[in-house]
Amino acid sequence: MAIVYVDNKPCEMNPEENLLHGCLSNGFKLPYFCWHPALGSVGACRQCAVKQFKDANDRLGKIVMSCMTPAAEGTRISIADPEVVAFRGGIIEGLMLNHPHDCPVCDEGGECHLQDMTVMTGHDYRRYEFDKRTFRNQDLGPLVNHEMNRCIQCYRCVRYYRDYAGGNDLNAFASRDQVFFGRSEDGVLESEFSGNLVEICPTGVFTDKTLKHHYARKWDQQFAPSVCVHCALGCNTDAGERFGTLRRIVNRYNHEVNGYFLCDRGRFGYEFVNSKVRLRQPVLRGRPTSAALARKHLDQTVAEGRAIGIGSPRTSLEANFALRTLVGADHFYSGIADPEAKLVRLMLEILRQGPMRTPTLREIEECDVVLILGEDLTNVAPRMALAVRQSVRQQPMEAVKKLKIPLWLDHGVRDAMQDAKGPLYIATPYRTRLDDVATATFRAAPDDLARFGFAIAHALDSGAPKSQDWPPADEIARALKAAKKPLVISGTSCASEAVIEAAANVAMAAHAALSFTAPECNSIGAALMGGNSLSAAFQAVRDGYADTVIVLENDLYRRAPSAEVDSMLKAAPHVIVLDHLSNPTTEKAELVLPAGTFAESDGTFISSEGRVQRFFQVSVPQIEVMASWRWLKPDHWQNLDDVLRAMGRALPELEAACDAAPSSTFRIAGAKIPRSPHRESGRTAALVNINISEPKAPDDPDSALSFSMEGTPEQPPAALIPFFWSPSWNSIQAVNTYQKEVGGPLRGGDAGVRLFEPAPRNGQPYFSAVPPAFSPRRCEWLLVPMYHIFGSDELSLAAPGIRELTAKPHVALNSDEFAEGAEVEVICADGTFRLPVTIQREMPAGVAALSVGISPVVGISLPAWGKIARPK
Ligand code: SF4
Ligand code: SF4
Ligand code: FES
Repeated sequence: MAIVYVDNKPCEMNPEENLLHGCLSNGFKLPYFCWHPALGSVGACRQCAVKQFKDANDRLGKIVMSCMTPAAEGTRISIADPEVVAFRGGIIEGLMLNHPHDCPVCDEGGECHLQDMTVMTGHDYRRYEFDKRTFRNQDLGPLVNHEMNRCIQCYRCVRYYRDYAGGNDLNAFASRDQVFFGRSEDGVLESEFSGNLVEICPTGVFTDKTLKHHYARKWDQQFAPSVCVHCALGCNTDAGERFGTLRRIVNRYNHEVNGYFLCDRGRFGYEFVNSKVRLRQPVLRGRPTSAALARKHLDQTVAEGRAIGIGSPRTSLEANFALRTLVGADHFYSGIADPEAKLVRLMLEILRQGPMRTPTLREIEECDVVLILGEDLTNVAPRMALAVRQSVRQQPMEAVKKLKIPLWLDHGVRDAMQDAKGPLYIATPYRTRLDDVATATFRAAPDDLARFGFAIAHALDSGAPKSQDWPPADEIARALKAAKKPLVISGTSCASEAVIEAAANVAMAAHAALSFTAPECNSIGAALMGGNSLSAAFQAVRDGYADTVIVLENDLYRRAPSAEVDSMLKAAPHVIVLDHLSNPTTEKAELVLPAGTFAESDGTFISSEGRVQRFFQVSVPQIEVMASWRWLKPDHWQNLDDVLRAMGRALPELEAACDAAPSSTFRIAGAKIPRSPHRESGRTAALVNINISEPKAPDDPDSALSFSMEGTPEQPPAALIPFFWSPSWNSIQAVNTYQKEVGGPLRGGDAGVRLFEPAPRNGQPYFSAVPPAFSPRRCEWLLVPMYHIFGSDELSLAAPGIRELTAKPHVALNSDEFAEGAEVEVICADGTFRLPVTIQREMPAGVAALSVGISPVVGISLPAWGKIARPK
């Protein structure tokens, strides 16, 4: 650490960083706009000025931008020097000349970095009396709102959108005081990470358009720490609620997982919680009933009959465990289709026993050579794709380091790197959104992808099984061998065990990290919970072995062909379903129990990294909604801690769930952690239209969080942070004050417990089942699944903003027989679908990729052979 004197006070600062970073890390209130820990410094706004002195005798000093000056040993600066205070005042006055004074009606008001910085700088009077510059705003689609008059030209938006996230359709236009940030014309922002503009922009130019539909100020919402339910990466979020409506999702910084950014599915998919098709009351044989009668019916049916339970990979460990306890371990069945369950179990075994480390998303950003085998990351694990986009900078960065350019000096680094990228190798059946930064892409059928992987592993280690000679495999092997931090990514997207095994072989041979994607937010947890197979559940009902089937948060029509589900449900005398949204399975139920979503329940998920993480209810559920584990629990479990303890005893591998967050008895100086930010006006007025006496805040027996603004003013442990706020820091930038060092881990450690660490290298054998080469069939196509960030996820499909962006289901193939856009019939064992064709010339002959998860292509088992023909 370097010692830097700030107004004569010696402070420890990271010498590899700049003075602004050092000052903020030391708790100084130094205003800034254009700098961001994830984007580095460009010195555009001039707001972070400090005075720098040559030595202790220098009285004159010179004004420098703290974000552009290294925190070198012995540096002497002043934040409080009157000249530099006046300079910063002049800058903010200039930035505010054209800024509308519309804080009271601005969506950003109350959590605006510009507001905070204006107050911090002391600018409180407008001398400018002339007309302000005005712009025409753009319609940027259903997710992000645009109000360009609020812009202060800090350039953060374009730097994030283009340089960090790889988007092309947002830019800076025009010049002088007419500089405009937007698209060349109205239209939906193309980046799947556009929602981060809402937090990156320090003013109210880019705001959350979904929040606009049910707007509430930050201080009027209550928040809870949560975990995203829309893919398996487990990004940390904070959910904001008011009066029973979930208002929005914001990023909850976790240094090791999502850092500062979410994907748009994760940020905007939350609106399914407010959906019109939410189930809010128990329904028995088509009639609404009370919670007490519903529970009585459940108990009676289970006691008198032969009940089995079908769990779910999209709900918590606790809910799955409560169902397993209710029906008995022998009668508990996995809610994952058999082929997918097999793949997830295979990945689990590799992660448990292999010598490869499963990296965090932050570690992925630092990898210097990446091989992706079989995954279209942007569409299945979006935040991982964003991490891989950062990894392609690592190897070129070595040259920057040799030139001794500080890594935070953004323009210097980019000038030195130019367009150098990679190495990143992508081997998939079809085109991916990361191809634009790939060193090379390789398109093949799943079996050939596996063979390609086996060839790479063999090129790295001749002891690994061989498939065939493949020159590109040698090149990739050389790159992986030369890398300091090599990484292999694979997963379940190709539905191929061979692809997963080949990826494991490459990682083992290259001594590389190995990252797997998984299909749903708790696929790994559900696999660890175990249970009999889903097909066995269907069989048990059809054979009459079971007469009651309890389905937990799982639309079975998405797991198996509808004819199979129909016949099973028809054979079951009693069908009991717990879920949040009405769906084809709930429609077949004798009893429907309204289950709390992530926003109305507490629970634990295990991410694809193997990170065990807790989410907390943000509000007390309305009407008769309850967390699934509460519907199912035995009487002697009083609260979440009881469930966790019982689960740890029954399934020791899941004991770590107890440590995912402090228990319900946790207190700071005897106080709970408030879910609500402070309100100057007091909370008493919030419900005055209902009752002028302030009602008692609801109890929360399950967590250390309170449903009120009363509680500890201290910063809570990472797993319990409901919102980021510090004195003077009302915007999301308050996160700086929660970190040990700005941009680094949170104080007290980041949230979550990792389950899998690499096993010692004990000569674990390579996988040896090399599949035969793919051979196309005459008049038949190998149908492989193709996922879409907007559409393939069941829950976010019920969010209006996401639904508007949902991909049109189609079939992608390489053929001269069909024209682009032509409608074809895809005929396979699980059904016949009419879909438009998309021609992808680089796809292998004989392979067709089918949009899955979007009606009509749901519940089918792929890969499968099928026919594609013009409709008759
Ligand atoms: S739109 Fe926001 S982020 Fe972009 S330059 Fe303007 S103030 Fe900065
Ligand atoms: S990457 Fe996955 S977990 Fe993260 S925000 Fe997006 S959908 Fe949610
Ligand atoms: S933050 Fe330093 S110049 Fe903008």
